[in-house]
Amino acid sequence: MARRRLSKALFEFIDRGSEDDIALRHNRAALERIKLLPRVLNDVSRRDPAITLFGKPHALPLVIGPTGPAGYAWYRGETALASAAAIAGIPFTLASTSNTAMENILQDGGGTQWYQLYVWRDMEASLVAVERARAAGFEALVLTVDATVPYNREFDIRNGVTFPIRITPRNTIDTLLHPRWLFGTLGRYVLAEGHMPRYVNIQIPDDLAPAQVRSFLAKNDTLNWDFLRRVRDMWPRTLIVKGVLHPDDAVMAADCGADGVIVSNHGGIANDAGVAPIDALPAVVAAAGDRLTIFVDSGFRRGSDVLKGLALGADAVIIGRATLYGVSAAGEAGATRALEILDAEIRRTMGVLGLTDIKSLTRDYVVLPGQPLA
Ligand SMILES: Cc1cc2nc3c(=O)[nH]c(=O)nc-3n(C[C@H](O)[C@H](O)[C@H](O)COP(=O)(O)O)c2cc1C
Repeated sequence: MARRRLSKALFEFIDRGSEDDIALRHNRAALERIKLLPRVLNDVSRRDPAITLFGKPHALPLVIGPTGPAGYAWYRGETALASAAAIAGIPFTLASTSNTAMENILQDGGGTQWYQLYVWRDMEASLVAVERARAAGFEALVLTVDATVPYNREFDIRNGVTFPIRITPRNTIDTLLHPRWLFGTLGRYVLAEGHMPRYVNIQIPDDLAPAQVRSFLAKNDTLNWDFLRRVRDMWPRTLIVKGVLHPDDAVMAADCGADGVIVSNHGGIANDAGVAPIDALPAVVAAAGDRLTIFVDSGFRRGSDVLKGLALGADAVIIGRATLYGVSAAGEAGATRALEILDAEIRRTMGVLGLTDIKSLTRDYVVLPGQPLA
């Protein structure tokens, strides 16, 4: 449904990885190679998928991750995602490149909300968002560290996609072929707010031309551990580092005072030759699982995938595209439907595994490729 509604350029921006989509496919292949080993004759009439994160209970072992284009896919799509998360009883993470004021999303969406930080070339301007998110009341800050150089998404160039989205000669036909998106989303921003969707949570100087805005939004390739320590000093609440794959980096993050890490390759976008996060997870858990809350993402589509992540030591799974497709198709109802599907699949897989409490899921329930069953 998302594919039909969105322009090809926006759909591919959401759906694809980078370069040859190898990491995107490999994330799925790595999850598919892991098998679950059930136990039987255990009364599973009551199954509880609830977890606790940073001292707070949540109904499912899921978090909606930050996805920049939610507000381009649906009018106020970020609020739709936040509301869907609140209804499902899980946290929502708001992306830096969102199109509605963070204070409004926090208030209108409700529930548990975290704020994700990208660091632009102008580091001080980027840090303004940290102060703003603190004052607004976001419960956690998610610092993304796997986006210091531009991703090599060649299809974006071919599709003529530009952010902030503009209608240009290269994408006019594609845009006109998707009138529900053109009028229902872009047109609605113009009617309701008087302009095309913009990055209202980034402090961009008012007088910049579109090309200058794009160069302002270049990521900062000087990021280092000192920067993480600086953010730690500024942010009094939960701090999570997103995009860690090496166990030593997880240990460094803990040494710098982080509370959690997300084992992630940005949904296969960050590095087309990179390892799959599900394969990197056990070493990260072994190195820092006793000091950090550990999340995993990239390629999780089914409830059984979520259980594989938890069995290998993750405290919760972050989802990106699953709810992004939902919100692109049908706003809050679509995101809610995506979460309902995952909820039902998680409960069904728990039943199949003979599991009543998701917290008792251990490594004994998974068989890794090549591992003997005995
Ligand atoms: C279209 C798209 C936009 C994304 N935007 C952001 C972002 O703004 N900030 C960020 O930290 N991660 C971003 N991510 C990465 C997600 O937070 C998450 O790591 C990834 O989507 C998980 O993989 P999955 O899509 O296979 O579930 C984005 C991912 C996609 C697919």
